Amino acid sequence: MSPHSYNKDKAGSLLSSRGRQELLRLYAGQGLLTRLYVRLRSLVYAAGEYERHMPERGMIIDAGCGVGLYTNWLSVLYPHAEFFGFDLDEKRIAVARSTVGERKNINFETLDAVRCELPRCRGILMVDFLHHVPRDQQLALLKRAYDALEKGGVLYLSEIDTRLNYRLIVSAVADVVLYPFSCNSQYRKPGEWQKELEVLGFKVGMEKLPHKLVSVVRFVCVKP
Ligand SMILES: C[S@@+](CC[C@H](N)C(=O)[O-])C[C@H]1O[C@@H](n2cnc3c(N)ncnc32)[C@H](O)[C@@H]1O
Repeated sequence: MSPHSYNKDKAGSLLSSRGRQELLRLYAGQGLLTRLYVRLRSLVYAAGEYERHMPERGMIIDAGCGVGLYTNWLSVLYPHAEFFGFDLDEKRIAVARSTVGERKNINFETLDAVRCELPRCRGILMVDFLHHVPRDQQLALLKRAYDALEKGGVLYLSEIDTRLNYRLIVSAVADVVLYPFSCNSQYRKPGEWQKELEVLGFKVGMEKLPHKLVSVVRFVCVKP
């Protein structure tokens, strides 16, 4: 799948042990629900699934970062990169900020992805985020992501696989329960995402993940 594989073995082995423990430690002071969320989500999205595609250095953006889970996870692995996570929800950003501590290479802001400027960067994460953005804004946002990336940079997009089965229902219900105030379920078929990403100029690798619980399709998109 990977047109742009970085540190496959390193990421897998680190995350399964020290990386995940370090991640859980960053959220240890949070409320029960946040701790549960981080614990469960870091299990569902097992070690080495997305990190290996991201650059080790340079600026990495996490759009719709929520409580900062994936930004923090990557920052544990790649301490020499710079991280910028943003989300529309200021409560989640408050949680994300409270994990930063003394670290200087990680920053979280409350911003609307539809309106904000994306800084020049080497990597962009959009993990289960884009289907919360109104459908008629999604492609413009992807175009801005393309423009913000340096040559050779990577957009990692994780979306819902729309094939009809119980996993799709679990994903859709989880969206509505966990994010009742955000726009929801603006799904597209995997082939449609792929086509739109390729039209923008990305070199795209697609993978449908065989999770037991949720329905996920991932795109590793490299700007040539
Ligand atoms: C399913 S959560 C995913 C959070 C995080 N990426 C993760 O995987 O843990 C979707 C997030 O997108 C955020 N979001 C929705 N619309 C947004 C927008 N226009 N700009 C920024 N964030 C947005 C929501 O507030 C929510 O935190």
